[in-house]
Amino acid sequence: MKHLITTAGLDAAEIGNLLDVADHMAEINSRPVPKVPALRGRTVASVFFEDSTRTRLSFETAAKRLSADTMTFSASTSSLNKGESLRDTIETLSAMGVDAFVVRHKSSGVPEAVTQWTDAVVINAGDGWHQHPTQALLDAFTVTRSFGDGNTMQGRHIAIVGDIKHSRVARSCMDVFVKLGARVTAVAPSTLLPAGGLPGGVAVAHGIDDVVGECDVLYMLRMQRERMDSALVPELGEYSARFGLDPARAARLPAHSLVMHPGPMNRGVEMLVDPSHLPGSRILAQVANGVSVRMAVLFSLLGGAAAGLERGDS
Ligand code: CP
Repeated sequence: MKHLITTAGLDAAEIGNLLDVADHMAEINSRPVPKVPALRGRTVASVFFEDSTRTRLSFETAAKRLSADTMTFSASTSSLNKGESLRDTIETLSAMGVDAFVVRHKSSGVPEAVTQWTDAVVINAGDGWHQHPTQALLDAFTVTRSFGDGNTMQGRHIAIVGDIKHSRVARSCMDVFVKLGARVTAVAPSTLLPAGGLPGGVAVAHGIDDVVGECDVLYMLRMQRERMDSALVPELGEYSARFGLDPARAARLPAHSLVMHPGPMNRGVEMLVDPSHLPGSRILAQVANGVSVRMAVLFSLLGGAAAGLERGDS
């Protein structure tokens, strides 16, 4: 694997290998000085054409903890505003000596296109409705490590609730969770399910009440407010009433169940309960695990040497 554009090219064994490497990275992150020289001399460029808090900052943190140099491209202050093309932008940054591009764009397919314009590794940090592979990997890491299940999700029921149709997170997560053996249910109004159908093995429910009493993981998606305007959701209050997690529903979750959300959350829309009051909330653990998993991805794709993971500041 040279690039990470989609989860489709990863089989269960490859996903498991990345999660095992992430265990090593989590151990590094628990040290008083969470930094190793594994990627010293390498340069990782974050090239985000769409807003991000978690993904951009966790990739940058991951690169720095592996002692890579980082380059942060800001689309809003770049020469894109003078008419420079995306291709010329990537070729320009490549000429400065970039080893890995971490790319987010509102259009599906841009990270794949970037692979044609550079010899560097390209990692998809979220493209349109298409894919968000590192989110799915960090979520798989969070679920499996929370339950102590090794690298399998066999026997676990994961309900993904919300706007499945427009969610790159849902698309990547369904693929990874099914490959690891989970039973997955997509919970959404029919207008927010993909027109082309769901991946094999994914069931459908049309209300959160159908799953909340028996799922192992309740994975809430952000309700994108623009969907309200496009008539895909009749009314915000009605959506919240059928698909929101409120205190009464949270009380019906089995005691061992996890509550997850990729962020950013819409409090008062899909989250009608303060997650800090939920014992099963793993939402901040997802963020912390994102650093370890992105370290694993950078280390694996950039061919870091195992010796570089030994104790020692750069
Ligand atoms: N989960 C996620 O992609 O969050 P950001 O948009 O903040 O990166």
